[in-house]
Amino acid sequence: MSCEENPPPSSPPIASLSSSPPSFPPKPFSSPLAVSSPSPASLHFIGTREYVIQAQRVTKLVNGCRDILVLYHQGELHAMDLRCYHAGGPLLNGDIEEFNGQSCIVCPWHKYKITLAEGEALYQAVDNPTLTPLRTRWCSKGVKQRVHKVTVVNGNVYVTLNDSSEVIESDAYQTEKFRANRFKGSPNPSPEFYKPIQKQSKKKPLF
Ligand code: FES
Repeated sequence: MSCEENPPPSSPPIASLSSSPPSFPPKPFSSPLAVSSPSPASLHFIGTREYVIQAQRVTKLVNGCRDILVLYHQGELHAMDLRCYHAGGPLLNGDIEEFNGQSCIVCPWHKYKITLAEGEALYQAVDNPTLTPLRTRWCSKGVKQRVHKVTVVNGNVYVTLNDSSEVIESDAYQTEKFRANRFKGSPNPSPEFYKPIQKQSKKKPLF
């Protein structure tokens, strides 16, 4: 994984299935200055630990090329790509719930579930659709969201980007091209990001 262009998603972004748009984030996200000394180049400063814990969720453009979300949940810090692997939804606004014993963020757009620890996509499978009531079990689609390593040094929170060369689906929403099209040059995150992507309406030919 690098700052270079990633392959396009397997399917293009689609419109939100939700009838109501996701709410805007409660406040702008900025990090206080680092308190301490220089750190290895691979460590990207996010904010003081106190600040991140208080904010619970912090977004940051890391290394000029990766929009990430840092979360504080049940005493642990997690980091992952900001935009959902499915269609680029804002995970910043997702609820965190337990599924199959794993803490997951639920994307606000189409409710896909992504584990905080590994970025695995979980779904419920139905064994036999003719049975009533239906019996379901949790399954994994594999790692779909790139997660990053969080380190705390001297009271400051740092992220080390996951530079695995394996293509992960959320990479598709981290390209300059995607940012340029989606945000039209506006700062990121901006209110634009929190609006669902509108589906292009196809005009019928007149004749
Ligand atoms: S964008 Fe569809 S579930 Fe996240």
